[in-house]
Amino acid sequence: MKKNNKIIILAIETSCDDTCIALLEAKDQLKPKFKILSNIVSSQVEVHKKWGGVYPTLAKREHQKNLPKVFKKAMEKAKNPKIDLIAVTVGPGLEPCLWIGVNFAKDLAQEINLPIVAINHIEAHIFANFIKKIQDTKCPLFTHSKIRVLFPAVCLVVSGGHTQLILMKNYRAKGDISSKAHYRNYKILGETRDDAAGECLDKVARILGLSYPGGPVIETEARCRIKDKKYRIQLPRPMISQKNYDFSFSGLKTAVLYHFKNQSEKDRKSKKYTRAMCKEVQQAVIDVLIRKTIKAAKDYKAKTIILGGGVAANRELRKQLQEKTKKELPNTKYLTPDTYYCTDNAAMVGVAAYFSWLKGNIKSWKKIKADANLKI
Ligand code: KG4
Ligand code: ZN
Repeated sequence: MKKNNKIIILAIETSCDDTCIALLEAKDQLKPKFKILSNIVSSQVEVHKKWGGVYPTLAKREHQKNLPKVFKKAMEKAKNPKIDLIAVTVGPGLEPCLWIGVNFAKDLAQEINLPIVAINHIEAHIFANFIKKIQDTKCPLFTHSKIRVLFPAVCLVVSGGHTQLILMKNYRAKGDISSKAHYRNYKILGETRDDAAGECLDKVARILGLSYPGGPVIETEARCRIKDKKYRIQLPRPMISQKNYDFSFSGLKTAVLYHFKNQSEKDRKSKKYTRAMCKEVQQAVIDVLIRKTIKAAKDYKAKTIILGGGVAANRELRKQLQEKTKKELPNTKYLTPDTYYCTDNAAMVGVAAYFSWLKGNIKSWKKIKADANLKI
């Protein structure tokens, strides 16, 4: 395949509880452009709801059952194009779930004799920023051409499984995801020492009797004004003043639990209390994320701040980080993915794969394996 030709990428993502397949047309190595031919996400929310979080064995079973159906649907929607390249998330994530996607990719690659690009899930969340929607309902064309990232960039990836601040030196290094060159392109500045931000929101929602996933429900409940003094809650901002870039959210969840337990039965069930708590816990998470991101961007002289991951869909986080960047770092660019591409999807895997493929990072299906603890 020539680097300047148009190629069709089949991307697969099964690292957590969403079974995802996308087909993308990618072209132009100098100004990469993507046309998303199909992007199917089969959510397992209904299955995991009663546990208040993802149950790995169930998730694996669901991926196994749904992946062939999702593949068929994605191919049909894209009008059965001839695939040139397979992209698959190999980690980090839930090991049994990752293997379902990886084995599916390997079988397909072997059957039709295609190369595979192995993708890091965190990296895919960052590359979701390069998918931009063009307002054309007849032809859903997405493009990268208008986005120019200036490096170094500081990336805040916040999801249900991860909360990391990453320094990104360029689009892509030549070298596989486990190679030294890859590790040199990214540097983890800080990460959570316990719960991820999304995990904290999911657990708080459970305490408050709200549904799963907690992040979007908390966001909706938090859209209110607290007039009654009785409902002015003050939660801690863990590690906010520490001079590192690490996070800790499990204490925040515990603070919510104790506060909740101290309420009368009537208050615990009241709408006003639930809303006030959602507003405060969301703000506590946002305050810590923003403080550390701005500090990292200043310390590392970042030219761009990039947001990614499921929690990046939160409108308050997007807005407040934008305002803070504008105020404190007026010369720094600020990128957020389209809200649709924040939570897990395979389109972001395909986009990351194109950049990787341009650098020659392809592998034979024989060498691909899942790695639950893969580092960026
Ligand atoms: O990236 P993602 O889909 O899966 C993982 O890689 O973990 O992220 C899922 C997480 C969940 O914890 C969910 O509650 C959170 O993202 N989330 C949100 C919002 N939408 C999803 N958190 C806050 N506000 C949202 N609007
Ligand atoms: Zn994710």
